[in-house]
Amino acid sequence: MSVSVDPTADPTSVEPSGNESAEALRPHAEDAFADELAALAAQDDRPRPARWKLSPWAVATYLLGGVLADGTVISPKYVGPRRIVEVAVSTLATDRALLLLGVPGTAKTWVSEHLAAAVSGDSTLLVQGTAGTPEEAIRYGWNYAQLLAHGPSRDALVPSPVMRAMAEGATVRVEELTRMPADVQDTLITILSEKTLPIPELGQEVLAVRGFSLIATANDRDRGVNELSSALRRRFNTVVLPLPESVEAEVDIVARRVDQIGRSLDLPAAPDGIDEIRRVVTVFRELRAGVTSDGRTKVKSPSGTLSTAEAISVVTGGLALAAHFGDGVLRAGDVAAGILGAVVRDPAADRVVWQEYLEAVVRERAGWTDFYRACREVSA
Ligand SMILES: Nc1ncnc2c1ncn2[C@@H]1O[C@H](COP(=O)(O)OP(=O)(O)O)[C@@H](O)[C@H]1O
Ligand SMILES: [Mg+2]
Repeated sequence: MSVSVDPTADPTSVEPSGNESAEALRPHAEDAFADELAALAAQDDRPRPARWKLSPWAVATYLLGGVLADGTVISPKYVGPRRIVEVAVSTLATDRALLLLGVPGTAKTWVSEHLAAAVSGDSTLLVQGTAGTPEEAIRYGWNYAQLLAHGPSRDALVPSPVMRAMAEGATVRVEELTRMPADVQDTLITILSEKTLPIPELGQEVLAVRGFSLIATANDRDRGVNELSSALRRRFNTVVLPLPESVEAEVDIVARRVDQIGRSLDLPAAPDGIDEIRRVVTVFRELRAGVTSDGRTKVKSPSGTLSTAEAISVVTGGLALAAHFGDGVLRAGDVAAGILGAVVRDPAADRVVWQEYLEAVVRERAGWTDFYRACREVSA
């Protein structure tokens, strides 16, 4: 017997009222970009797969940005190769699951949230993978008061986000898949291959309805964590998200995100901040690559990842300093401490790496004197 799950019956869900979600520190993608999604839906005349809010074309446009026929501007969410987004979106339109793979900070989580928002209008069906993620997070749990009082029943069952997505024909996200213990990961095999979730206690099952899809993310740099089993890997189409290919691309990503975050925190826009952003991005890229951008000087790489995401938080922190304790213009002194914090993770080894880079590269670079001084000041 198959049954449907009533999503409104989830006792753990707390529905925010309209103004609460407007005040949210970080609204969900479908709320933050509700206007763009509505404009896309209104003008989208291409075929939509079952239960999709938009056609695959419109989903890709939502992610990559563009201008609609009526002049509505859709802001780019993901900056990177168009083909990556097209492959990801078309995977979701098939019965295969999507695995976004990449080093930390390559927008895996970000892309999966926006995909879920555009495809299903809901990015909140989410399982966070950790070493302690239990099987119930993927299958279902029980409300123990109900279970003890009345025995196993539909009322006592607490559906997981995966179960709800199956029943609703929606998109569910599984974050950091490879951090979950292997046996918990393997719970997904039946779900992805048979499209069913058995409930042996009730002699029932939940069948996935059309529109159900799953997006998982995993870091390909996670060491000492569980590998994806080959049985599970076969159920996924893997899309690797690359690091931004050029300084300019990365500066563009950082500037865009910092602007969005700054507005949500009511920080004043920094008119001349772009030069400082370029310096942060240049430093991060050179330390990551182990060589200066002109290819001439080898440098050592610190232990941390120095991702785009970290550049974004260094610049956001710098903007807050400039706004509250400076003259509102982002300067070298505002980002120096943030850079030091991001680079020096291991207080001994990384400090040496940073000092060498500072003296061998930053000091010698034309036009970087203020930056060198600011970094020296916080490093001392
Ligand atoms: N190519 C990119 N396009 C747009 N934003 C990006 C890109 N790369 C990184 N970001 C930004 O970096 C931040 C962190 O990304 P996140 O999704 O948390 O990384 P991951 O899950 O891969 O570790 C997000 O705010 C995102 O906007
Ligand atoms: Mg992530």
